[in-house]
Amino acid sequence: SQYPWFAHRLLEWYPRHRRDLPWRHTRDPYAIWLSEVILQQTRVKQGLPYYLDFISSYPTVQDLAAAPQDEVLRHWQGLGYYSRARNMHHTAQQVVSEFGGHFPGSYAELLKLRGVGQYTAAAIASFAYDEKVAVLDGNVFRVLARVFGFTQDIAAPASRKVFQQLADNLIPAEQPAEFNQAIMEFGAIQCTPAKPDCLFCPLQTECYAFQHGMVQELPVKSKA
Ligand code: ADE
Repeated sequence: SQYPWFAHRLLEWYPRHRRDLPWRHTRDPYAIWLSEVILQQTRVKQGLPYYLDFISSYPTVQDLAAAPQDEVLRHWQGLGYYSRARNMHHTAQQVVSEFGGHFPGSYAELLKLRGVGQYTAAAIASFAYDEKVAVLDGNVFRVLARVFGFTQDIAAPASRKVFQQLADNLIPAEQPAEFNQAIMEFGAIQCTPAKPDCLFCPLQTECYAFQHGMVQELPVKSKA
């Protein structure tokens, strides 16, 4: 990496600040996928009880695939966006029918699953298989835009490539899973949208936004 301090400080910060969340104690791609589907448009605090309910009601992808759809939707009740639950159920059936009940074993193969986009594929591939592929979500965009002074619109299609290259360059080969969890957690609890904790930030001295008084201005995001 051109910026060894980034992963170094982040990985030092992470064990001292992380929340203890159940999907961080597993390497089961099914459990990780389930957590990411639930957390896609949902906060951790709201999603956590649903995750616990789903993983105990449907411990394997076979269990979820075999469940009647109305039962799955009942478990989903209160989370909203019911198409997510229907897609999730369909994906479970696809894993069983097309992949013999085993989640595809790489980022590229995971992308073949319905409803599994770049973010979810990267999350599963890194967390479950330790594949070196960087996750990009809103938290990651914000952290990178601030630290590296990215002043373009993060919602512009061209920006994604820039961020992917930057993040793929930052992620250490030895700890891709830990790094991805760490950068998302850092965005969620330290480098937050409205009130980032810059005073106690381990990246403060290197952070472009902090050094230039632009923390409130970055990231730049057009409302599409
Ligand atoms: N939001 C989406 N994925 C998450 C994860 N793995 N941990 C915490 N929050 C998340």
